[in-house]
Amino acid sequence: MKLYKIIASAGMLILALAGYFYWSVNYSDAPSIRELASQQVTRQATFSDTVIPESDLPPEGTRSLFDHLIAVNDGVPYPFSKLIALLRDQSTDNREPLKLLIPHGRSLLKGQADDAHPRIVVAADFQNSNPQTGLGLMTQGQLFLGFVENANEIEVVSYNEAAGRFEFQLIKNYCEGCVPRLVYANRAICTTCHQGGTPIFSQRPWNETNGQLATAEAIREARGSEAPYASVALSQPLATPERFDELTDIGNFYLASQHLWLDGCGEKGNECRRKMLSLAMHFVDNPGHFDPASEASNELRKLQALAFPAQGIQVAESDLLNRDPTGETLEFKDRVYEFFTRDIQFGEGAKDNEDLAAFDKLPPLRPQFDPLTVRPPKTILNATDIDGVYGLARFFTEADVQQLNHAFEYDINQLVARVGALPDTVFDPVPFSRVRMMRALLGQELTYCCLSTAEMSPPLTAQVPPLTISSHPELNPFQQYCFACHRGNPSKRLNFMGAETESEVLASIRDKAEIRDVLDWERYEGTDKANKLMPPRDSQQYQKLKQAGADVRADMRETVPSLFSF
Ligand code: HEC
Ligand code: HEC
Repeated sequence: MKLYKIIASAGMLILALAGYFYWSVNYSDAPSIRELASQQVTRQATFSDTVIPESDLPPEGTRSLFDHLIAVNDGVPYPFSKLIALLRDQSTDNREPLKLLIPHGRSLLKGQADDAHPRIVVAADFQNSNPQTGLGLMTQGQLFLGFVENANEIEVVSYNEAAGRFEFQLIKNYCEGCVPRLVYANRAICTTCHQGGTPIFSQRPWNETNGQLATAEAIREARGSEAPYASVALSQPLATPERFDELTDIGNFYLASQHLWLDGCGEKGNECRRKMLSLAMHFVDNPGHFDPASEASNELRKLQALAFPAQGIQVAESDLLNRDPTGETLEFKDRVYEFFTRDIQFGEGAKDNEDLAAFDKLPPLRPQFDPLTVRPPKTILNATDIDGVYGLARFFTEADVQQLNHAFEYDINQLVARVGALPDTVFDPVPFSRVRMMRALLGQELTYCCLSTAEMSPPLTAQVPPLTISSHPELNPFQQYCFACHRGNPSKRLNFMGAETESEVLASIRDKAEIRDVLDWERYEGTDKANKLMPPRDSQQYQKLKQAGADVRADMRETVPSLFSF
C-alpha cells in the first residue's frame, strides 16, 4: 500500500473514532424512544383529558376518518398509487392530495427510506359541497399518510370527528402478495414525536422535501429516471411543502380548539361555550368585520375567566426546525457531527413501527432538530384570549356557511338568535363536532359519511398477531387470495373472515354460501354476475389465483358446503 494511502486511512480511522467519541459524549445517554413513550407528560392533567382520552383505540362508538373512508370504499387498495387515487376520488372535483417525497427525514421509519425509495407523505386538501340532506366531506388538516416502501408500512394520522382527537394508525404488511393489516398504533410511541397528539411538520424552507431542488435532484439521480414514484412526481413546487405545513398547523389547532372549548369554558361552562359558538358565527359570517374588542367578545372573556385553568392552555408546537440533510446549510459544528457519524455502523434503523430497538441505534439528531426532544408549547393562551372563536370557525366549511346563510336569510342576527335558543345540552362538555353542531343549528338529521360506526367491524390494535394457520390447512388459500380484503376490513359486511381464531374463521367461511358462487368463474363469466366474481379482476390476488389454476378454486369451494348437499 502506498504510504499516502496508509496515512489517509489512518487519518480516516482517527477521524471516525473522534466522531464516535464526540457522539458518545454528547448524545449516547439520550433516553430510548420506549423510555420517552412511557414517561408521563409533565403537563398538568386537565378536564379535557377525561373527555378526550389517550387510549390506543378510539373511544367506543367512534372511528378515525380514515377507517370511515376505507369502510365506505370496501377496503385498503394496493399499491399505494391506488390509495392516493382513492383519496382523490373522495373529492367532488377530483382534487389531487398533496404529495411530497422525503428521502432523509426524521420519522420513525427514516432508516428505511433513501433517495431511491423516499418516504412519501400525503395530505388530503379539500372540502366537498353539501348534498341536499347532508354534509360534505371535510379533509383539510384531518387526513395524512406517510409511506415507506421498504418498511412495508403506511402510517396514518386522521381526525376522529366524534371523539375530537386524531387517531394514529398503521397499515402493516403492505406489500405485494401480502395480507395488509389496518390497526391502531401504540399511541404513546407516536406521540413521543407527535407531541400534541397531532400532525407535525418542519418549517420553511423544507430542505428535507422534494420541494427543494437539491433533494429532488438526488432522488432523480438515485432512481435513474424522471418517472413518478408510486404516482408521485419527483419534484414539487415549494408551494407544496408550504401548504402541507399549513395543513398540519390547521390540524394542530383543531386540538387546541377542543381544549379551549372544554377547559377554557370548564366542565360547567355551557353558557361560555354558547357564547364562543355565537362569536364563531359572527366570525364566519364576516371575518373582516369581526371585532375582538366588542361587548360580546368581552362577555366571552368574562365567562372564560370563571373556569380557565390558572396555568393557561398550551397550544402544542407542531413545527420542527428545518433540517438540511445535505448538510450544506448546516453550521460548522453540525456539519462535523453529521460527517463523522455517517460512516459509523449504527444498523439500518427500524424495519417497522415495532422495531424500536433498531431505531434507537441510529445516530440521534442534534436535540434542536430531533422530533423526540420535548418542544415548548407554540403558545400558552389565557382567559383573555378568544382564539377558541377562530378555532371553532375553522371546523365549518364554506358550504356550511352558505347553508347557514341561506337558512337564516343572510341575517346574522337570526343565526345568532338561533344559537341563543339552542337547548342547554347542545353545549354540554363533550368534544366540539362540526356535524353535531350543524345538525343542531339547522334542526335537521343531516347525513355524513364518516360518523356512524353501525356498519363497521371492531377496531384492531397492533398487538393482535396475524392469524397462524396450523390445524385447518384448508384456510391457507383463503389467507393467500382473500384475507387481504376480507380480514380486518373496517366494513362489517366485508369482514367475514375477520374472526379471532382459526376455527371461527373457518366457521364463518362455511357460513357464507356466496363464496361458492363468487369462485365459480366458469359459470358466471360473461354473464351479468361476472363483476361479482372474486377476487376482483383488477386485484393481484385475481392474477395469482388464476395462475394457481381451477383445482385450487374447486378446493376452496368445497370448503363451503353447498346449500343442496344436505
Ligand atoms: C421519531 C419521531 C416520530 C415518531 C415516533 C413518529 N413520527 Fe410520524 N412523523 C415524524 C416526522 C418528523 C414527520 C414529518 C416529516 C416526515 O414525515 O418525515 C412525521 C409525519 C407523519 C405523518 C405525515 C403527516 C404529518 O404529521 O406530517 C404521518 C401520517 C405520521 N407521521 C404517522 C405516525 C404514526 C402513526 C406514528 C406512530 C406509529 C408516528 N408517526 C410516529 C416523526 C415521528
Ligand atoms: C382486492 C380485494 C378483494 C379480494 C382479494 C377479495 N375480495 Fe371479495 N370482495 C371485495 C369487495 C370490494 C367486495 C364488495 C363488492 C361489492 O359489494 O360490489 C367483495 C365481496 C365479496 C363477497 C360478497 C360479500 C357480500 O356479502 O356482499 C364475497 C362472498 C367475497 N367477496 C368473497 C371473496 C373470496 C372468497 C375471496 C378470495 C378468493 C375474495 N372475496 C377476495 C374485495 C376483495
